[in-house]
Amino acid sequence: MKIAIIGGGPAGLYSAILLKKQRPEAEITVYERNRADDTFGFGVVFSDATLDNFEKYDAPSYRRITQEFAYWDDIAVHFRGTVHRVGGNGFCGCSRRKLLLILQERARELGVHLMFQSELDDITGLANADLVVLADGINSRFRERYAEHFQPEIDVRSNVFAWMGSSRPLDAFTFIFQETEWGPFIAHAYQYEMGHSTWIFETDPETFERADLKGLDEKQSAERMEKIFGWFLEGHKLLTNRSMWRNFPMIRSKRWVKGNMVLIGDAKATAHFSIGSGTKLAMEDAIALADAMHRAPTVEQALKLYEGDRREEVEKTQHAADVSLVWFEHVDRFWDFDPVQFAFGVMTRAKAITYDNLTLRAPEFVNEVDKAFANQVRAGGFNVDVAKPVAPMFQPLKLREMTLANRAVVSPMCMYSAKEGMPGDFHLVHYGSRAIGGAGLIFTEMTCVSRDARITPGCAGLWNDEQEAAWRRIVDFVHANSAAKIALQLGHAGRKGATKLMWDGMDRPLEEGGWDVLSASPIPYFPDSQVPREMDRAAMDAVKASFVAAAGRGERCGFDMLELHCAHGYLLASFISPLTNQRTDEYGGALENRLRFPLEVFAALRAVWPAHKPMSVRISATDWAEGGITGDDAVQIARAFAEQGVDLVDVSTGQTVRDAQPVYGRMFQTPFSEQVRNEARVATMCVGNITTSDQVNTILAAGRADLVALGRPHLVDPAFTMKAAAWYGAGDIACPPQYLPGKEQIFRNSVRDRQDFDDLKIKAKPKTRAELKSEATKPLAAE
Ligand SMILES: Cc1cc2nc3c(=O)[nH]c(=O)nc-3n(C[C@H](O)[C@H](O)[C@H](O)COP(=O)(O)OP(=O)(O)OC[C@H]3O[C@@H](n4cnc5c(N)ncnc54)[C@H](O)[C@@H]3O)c2cc1C
Ligand SMILES: Cc1cc2nc3c(=O)[nH]c(=O)nc-3n(C[C@H](O)[C@H](O)[C@H](O)COP(=O)(O)O)c2cc1C
Repeated sequence: MKIAIIGGGPAGLYSAILLKKQRPEAEITVYERNRADDTFGFGVVFSDATLDNFEKYDAPSYRRITQEFAYWDDIAVHFRGTVHRVGGNGFCGCSRRKLLLILQERARELGVHLMFQSELDDITGLANADLVVLADGINSRFRERYAEHFQPEIDVRSNVFAWMGSSRPLDAFTFIFQETEWGPFIAHAYQYEMGHSTWIFETDPETFERADLKGLDEKQSAERMEKIFGWFLEGHKLLTNRSMWRNFPMIRSKRWVKGNMVLIGDAKATAHFSIGSGTKLAMEDAIALADAMHRAPTVEQALKLYEGDRREEVEKTQHAADVSLVWFEHVDRFWDFDPVQFAFGVMTRAKAITYDNLTLRAPEFVNEVDKAFANQVRAGGFNVDVAKPVAPMFQPLKLREMTLANRAVVSPMCMYSAKEGMPGDFHLVHYGSRAIGGAGLIFTEMTCVSRDARITPGCAGLWNDEQEAAWRRIVDFVHANSAAKIALQLGHAGRKGATKLMWDGMDRPLEEGGWDVLSASPIPYFPDSQVPREMDRAAMDAVKASFVAAAGRGERCGFDMLELHCAHGYLLASFISPLTNQRTDEYGGALENRLRFPLEVFAALRAVWPAHKPMSVRISATDWAEGGITGDDAVQIARAFAEQGVDLVDVSTGQTVRDAQPVYGRMFQTPFSEQVRNEARVATMCVGNITTSDQVNTILAAGRADLVALGRPHLVDPAFTMKAAAWYGAGDIACPPQYLPGKEQIFRNSVRDRQDFDDLKIKAKPKTRAELKSEATKPLAAE
């Protein structure tokens, strides 16, 4: 077999090694345009888990690599004169140049032909190769040559960065967030061998412009960075090596394989440097390719297998890298945060590290975070314990005169179980048990303001006296038997009205017994859905009047809070999204116009809803669709409602149009809440695939939301919050006397369960290489 590999970076060399080991008879050639020891960059970083993988696949190169490595365990965050250190991270660094020399030597030893100073421009000379590996890096000529086939997507990010080096010793992966007269600068730095560290400097385009860095050569740039970070460099110089300022290209390719050609490493996909995964991904691609070649009988099948098996892992890493890079791009959102909360945000930015996880390895740090959170709550007028604070989830919150005992919320969820809009016994038990279960706030399902405002025939409403009495019974029960507050969500289905119950076909039109539907524009949801009537001014007045009437009834029922539903493609949302609003009057066109009617309804409600009671608005912060609402629009929308007196923005997403492409994942909507909260400076509630109290605490402590709503988790577990309170030892949680023995038992058992769980986790966690190394070099205690 003949294998040609274009590119002698980590991906190309490591695949040559693994393939040659697997097929000693194969003729494998690596073509590299540079000389053997001519490389850019300084250090590379691997996690312990990646090194375990290297050990398994090629022990000799692993041994040589680890002889050269620097290990560290801590991450240090420098911000506004403070430094916070968190241990247990298990990273290793090594010189990129040495890594390549080790891989070259190992490849040579196995019999791989290494052709340096061989720049390939086309593959005609490789016509007799059975396999062509395209490992030609981030600017891959071959990916671009066959762009129509590979379909790369290149998203050039806004921040500007440069790689440099230094002799400054570092004992932790170090982030420095530096205020300057031009704006914020960030340094990501780590030591990769004695006396050598990598330094990546990053800033936003406006600060870059203001600091006049454009056009400076490498030396001048290094001098400028030495000035900014001089206090930390302690006289050590910055070194350069192709250290030009550049923008990070986030690359994804739809296809990785063309005939017998395969893209690997940076050529196929990149991951932002802030999660230190570029070289790791490149070498793990090589492992996946070698694995596939081992398992499949033909090259064609092997390449199919490689792409099929590897894509998900790569995309997961890219997603984590995306989330991380967005955090760094918007660091200004957190610039006025308390430094410990800021550091917590840095640590938890990419989802893998959480509140509980940090509690296990850096309990003092999390204790400081809890104290800072408690201090903020105290500043809000609560007499909470700051010396021994409870976890953020159990800190109270005040909106106008409404006080919530904790930050866990039952999200609004239609039960499709009402008859002619009447909530019945099911609703009483449903809301009652969730209130007793401990959540600080319970939302009603979307409660429709008129019969024709319903989504389905099973939707609850509040347009007549019987419904008012039924809701009052529920509200009274909640108030009498729990500490929970209850909010009424009012809505109008718009073009999604007259549809089937969820379990009969969500959003599908009713076959019989339907009613006429309204929307901003006459666009049906499904092609076979009812075409809605475009609302004229009279219809707007009528709808507004029904909202106002329902709010009056809600007040008489004793609801503590009122939410206006402007999300998920329902009537008011249909005005806000340009995908559903094609009007040419003053209610269509620019966002300001599209917001006009929803704001008018909000203002009318605010006028009748008692001033001491809070109001929220639910929005879809993105339509997940081309041309639709984006996070930036959501900030404008939140600001507009805030001007009308909204107290909380309930940040949801999507459900506007059928062909949306949501990116699901754990806590997938939380970044929108974070953006709205910290750009529009308004309190937010986040929601969406948040399933654990650990995630709730992580979100709150990092300042990504003020309240956290859970929908589906509450459907199966009304006592979600009570259980979490027991876990975190938040003993103040209210419990009706009938259930006290249950509360006492779970609180008692949780102490032991939690201890057992933590012990198990600590035992199951292998020692990091940094820990092993420091143990090995510790002087023996005198006997
Ligand atoms: C300037 C710069 C500095 C970096 N510094 C660091 C760092 O300090 N630490 C870190 O972890 N990561 C660093 N990275 C990222 C890291 O290099 C990559 O994520 C990783 O090297 C990817 O490995 P790869 O083998 O896919 O690509 P590369 O390492 O880029 O290797 C591709 C190779 O292909 C060769 N090549 C390209 N075209 C041809 C051709 N037509 N014919 C022959 N040969 C060709 C190139 O010369 C190169 O050697 C840096 C990236 C850049 C751009
Ligand atoms: C069965 C069901 C009914 C829902 N009904 C409503 C509703 O009436 N009003 C609303 O704003 N959101 C509604 N939602 C959306 C939820 O409030 C929540 O945003 C969504 O389920 C995501 O949160 P989760 O992942 O915690 O479930 C509903 C969701 C479900 C699963």
